[in-house]
Amino acid sequence: MKPISYVTGADRGLGLGLVQVLLEKGYKVYAGSYLPEQDELRKLSREHPNDVIVLPLDVSSEESVKQAREVIAAETNVLNLLINNAGIAQDRSGTILEPQYYEDIRALYEINTLGPLRVTQSVIDLLLNADRKMLVNISSVAGSVQELVRIQQYGYTMSKAALNMQSKMIHNHFKDQGLKVLVVHPGWMRSLLFGDIERMKDAPFEPIQSARNIVKLTETETEINEDIYMDHEGNRLPW
Ligand SMILES: NC(=O)c1ccc[n+]([C@@H]2O[C@H](COP(=O)([O-])OP(=O)(O)OC[C@H]3O[C@@H](n4cnc5c(N)ncnc54)[C@H](OP(=O)(O)O)[C@@H]3O)[C@@H](O)[C@H]2O)c1
Repeated sequence: MKPISYVTGADRGLGLGLVQVLLEKGYKVYAGSYLPEQDELRKLSREHPNDVIVLPLDVSSEESVKQAREVIAAETNVLNLLINNAGIAQDRSGTILEPQYYEDIRALYEINTLGPLRVTQSVIDLLLNADRKMLVNISSVAGSVQELVRIQQYGYTMSKAALNMQSKMIHNHFKDQGLKVLVVHPGWMRSLLFGDIERMKDAPFEPIQSARNIVKLTETETEINEDIYMDHEGNRLPW
């Protein structure tokens, strides 16, 4: 039987890349789709109808997360790999001396921090049923308290630091049941994360390159230990 994976935010960027690489590696992929204007994921699903299942998914909505779970659980009682990738970065706020747009900051928390918590909770039973099981939370080096030098982007940095904390708690809870947790900084990629490719045009690589590295990590980082925060090449990051 094929290993089964679930990727959130799969319409474009890193999420789409992860679906492509997991498909190449022989996974069946449940792919969460937020705003289905992009056609690439649907094209992939038309080409591989049994292996790429597109699910409408808004990680900020409990109802949407529950409905996605129902589709998955109707077809399988095991999940080998969950990748919480969906995320946003837009925020009009500046430094502490400038206006803070609290509705933007709340949206960052809702999607980047509470989104993964909701999705993980919705399928934790399916993950625990699998022999080989892994949770990958796509975080950022921006969530590292020790590494951080920024003086703005309170919402994004805090949302990722809180995601790191969440990941460690899930690791603590389930390490004895064989759930491997990875918290991964995917690197600086040319994506539409800020809604504008101009902002990311100088990034050194495309999301597909990071996706290849992250899937490789899921194959090599199988030993359960406390070293769970790393970049996409497996270099450890300080919390
Ligand atoms: N790009 C970088 O340099 C970088 C660096 C560090 C960390 N990251 C992290 O990498 C992850 C992927 O980002 P990316 O660069 O690939 O950006 P992206 O191209 O903007 O992809 C983000 C994905 O998340 C989806 N999404 C947005 N809101 C959602 C919601 N409420 N529910 C479900 N899905 C939602 C988007 O859907 P739509 O396309 O339909 O809007 C999109 O498919 C994020 O967690 C980001 O924080 C990226």
